[in-house]
Amino acid sequence: MTSLSLQLDEINLSLKPLLTYSWTRLFESPDARSGFVSYLCEMYHYVKFSCPLMELTRARLDDRNSEVARYLSHHIEEEAGHDDWVLADLERLGLSPDEVQRSRPSRETISLIGSQFYMINELNPIGYLGYIYALEANAPTDESIRKLSAQLDLPLAALSALTEHAEADPGHIRDLNQMLDDAVANQEDQEWIKYNLQMTLENLSDLVLSVAVRSEP
Ligand SMILES: [Fe+2]
Repeated sequence: MTSLSLQLDEINLSLKPLLTYSWTRLFESPDARSGFVSYLCEMYHYVKFSCPLMELTRARLDDRNSEVARYLSHHIEEEAGHDDWVLADLERLGLSPDEVQRSRPSRETISLIGSQFYMINELNPIGYLGYIYALEANAPTDESIRKLSAQLDLPLAALSALTEHAEADPGHIRDLNQMLDDAVANQEDQEWIKYNLQMTLENLSDLVLSVAVRSEP
């Protein structure tokens, strides 16, 4: 039988064209630079919820999921404070932290985050792992960041949140895959994770596309 991590990899690959379409639309818009800065503001809003959502998930797990709880405790430490990296990058691009923190998240960003509260509280807390998978499996690479910096005239120093993720996330996805294959055997849990991976990738694609469309004349 195909392992859960391989099934997730297949879903992720099948949705790559959708994400690529949204990113291309953003990078090819006439004012791609300010579009990308707007994306970083949205990113701040959703990265800020990484740790609170993991804490909520951990609190809602039952005893049979102690390995998932251990994984979450470790991963909360790994992801703590990453919203501050995004804030610092945006400050280097001329936006004050106060301005970013007070900015209104887009409807698509609220859907991305809000769907996870619904997943965890109303559907299945284990399903939240599909959200983590979506983010960890689609981290930028060093090469894509350098290209982005050159194409949009953004200093590499202002892309530190992306650079740090490019470095850390290949290890994070390996740890996640191993935990999923070792600790998530329940069929229903697996189906929720797959469902949430697909939903999250679609939400992310919508978010990027909405930023692109708003920055078009
Ligand atoms: Fe990560």
